Amino acid sequence: MKKLNLGVMISGRGSNLQAIIQACSMDDFPANIALVISNNNNAEGINHASDSQIPVNIIEEESYPDRVAFEKKITEALNFAEVELVCLAGFMKILSKNFINEWYDKIINIHPSLLPSFKGLDTHSRAISEGAKITGCSVHYVRPAVDEGPIIVQGAVPIFPEDTPDTLSKRVLEAEHKCYPLAIKLIAQGRVKVISGRTIIDGHDQFSETLINPKILKN
Ligand code: GAR
Repeated sequence: MKKLNLGVMISGRGSNLQAIIQACSMDDFPANIALVISNNNNAEGINHASDSQIPVNIIEEESYPDRVAFEKKITEALNFAEVELVCLAGFMKILSKNFINEWYDKIINIHPSLLPSFKGLDTHSRAISEGAKITGCSVHYVRPAVDEGPIIVQGAVPIFPEDTPDTLSKRVLEAEHKCYPLAIKLIAQGRVKVISGRTIIDGHDQFSETLINPKILKN
């Protein structure tokens, strides 16, 4: 089976990278990580890649005269590794319109909310303080506008009254670790089509489930 070549870009902890590494270690998973790029020399996630013998390039913006040179280096590294799909996994730098257009429909991101709600930072504390009962995560194609782009997979997670941003982020992270490999798998299987700003997933009817919070009791 020809596997889809992934380039995973990280800035920190790398737990989503770890979930993708784990998925890719399965013989029947249709993708493979060709390269990990970190824009932070101290990112914990670098160790996950090294432990699995995955090549890592550390490309820090501070080492380049400007953003154009920094992004050119990233593109060169991705092309050299023959990357076909770029996966932003906690990559905490906003990429330029030029870079994103170069990878149009070949770059995806995970965001810790049910988009289009709670774009931006501090998603969990905002979801709690606004009284949402359900939040989650979204894997989406990247577009120049931040946290916008056709949504591929979402995972819904309940918010409980006693939740703190920390407890909620742990619950959402569990969903992230399921959703990211699933989105990659669907793309690699050629089951995702982008039509008029939305995705249509071939076989979507296999995934229907409803999350209700609070759970409705029998009596
Ligand atoms: C994840 O929760 C991801 O959704 C979020 O950063 C975290 C990275 O964790 N991404 C964003 O907020 C992007 N807007 P990880 O390094 O353990 O995968």
